[in-house]
Amino acid sequence: MNTLLLGTTKDDIKKAASIIKDGGVVAMPTETVYGLAADALNGECVKKIFLAKRRPMDNPLIVHISDISDIERFDLVSEFPLEAQILAQTFWPGPLTIIMKKSDRIPDEVSAGLPTVAIRLPSHSVARQLIKESGTVLAAPSANRSGSPSPTTATHVMNDLCSFIDAVVDGGACDVGVESTVVTLATTPPRLLRPGLVTVEQIEAVIGKIDVDDAVLFKLENGEKAASPGMKYKHYSPKAKVVLINSDGDKFISFVNSEFETDSTVCAICYDEDVAELKAQAISIGKSDDLETQAKRLFDALRKVDTIDGVKKVYAHCPTKQGVGMALYNRLIRAASFEVIEIE
Ligand code: TXA
Ligand code: MG
Repeated sequence: MNTLLLGTTKDDIKKAASIIKDGGVVAMPTETVYGLAADALNGECVKKIFLAKRRPMDNPLIVHISDISDIERFDLVSEFPLEAQILAQTFWPGPLTIIMKKSDRIPDEVSAGLPTVAIRLPSHSVARQLIKESGTVLAAPSANRSGSPSPTTATHVMNDLCSFIDAVVDGGACDVGVESTVVTLATTPPRLLRPGLVTVEQIEAVIGKIDVDDAVLFKLENGEKAASPGMKYKHYSPKAKVVLINSDGDKFISFVNSEFETDSTVCAICYDEDVAELKAQAISIGKSDDLETQAKRLFDALRKVDTIDGVKKVYAHCPTKQGVGMALYNRLIRAASFEVIEIE
């Protein structure tokens, strides 16, 4: 299939919407990462997303809406609890996904057979225009090949999915860079299933104490069931092996430098302050105290590793688990298949 590359003019968005109305799949920019969108209310269209990404069918999708009123208009949930309404009023449009009990309108392909549905109102104006113009709501997982880092540019999408999808709307680089925070209100108390730019502290400030699912920070034991099916899969991985180093900045540099002396196939994902002192190739994701910039650049950095000739292993700083750091930690620990070297 020929993948059409579109811009963000009114005509481009109309064209993208007509592809979706005709049952196709289109990659669209959102403020978090690029999403691969299809009509969420049509199970046959949704199946095409799973095929293009090679995504396991038991991993449910997020339904993207263009206005809070879409929840009622398209009859998406069987209950819209007060806490969900408070979260929606506070954080939408924006990078928060809320899981609620689903209605019968949601096809099994979207919910992967679960009794719940994940809903998000993105703040990216192109995403919202496209949803509106399509006249429906859009199921959209991240627009990467399953297992690889989520795409934050149209080029990332093309590298993974060119000729497997109908079109890509190129809206430039994504602002946030990591996927939305996912919180479920189908349990009491509510539970964080995936950390993102909207932090636990921000959520608790408006709805009170929430739980953090074990799978956010720890490796699931064999046979343990994931509340969020996506958490059980290997994820965000470049071809090179990723290893996290839990140490202070100086020890990180001396460790990587001494490894590089005997093994020239290693490189580093690091902070601006480290670059001058590292002997191995260094890919910086921002200043050491600027978590938001680090989030924005993380997936591009993981993809860059595979473009450096001969590199087989990448060492990355182990991030803090606090605030936005929790989102970075959650992605990097999966990219590293939970391999961390502790240096006292
Ligand atoms: O920022 C984002 O959320 C991006 C953009 C495109 O909106 N989308 C995204 O979708 O990251 P995806 O499919 O890559 O991640 C959705 C996560 C998966 O881990 C999935 O298992 C979980 O949300 N999820 C979706 N529906 C769920 C449900 N009903 N119950 C539990 N987990 C659910
Ligand atoms: Mg994804």
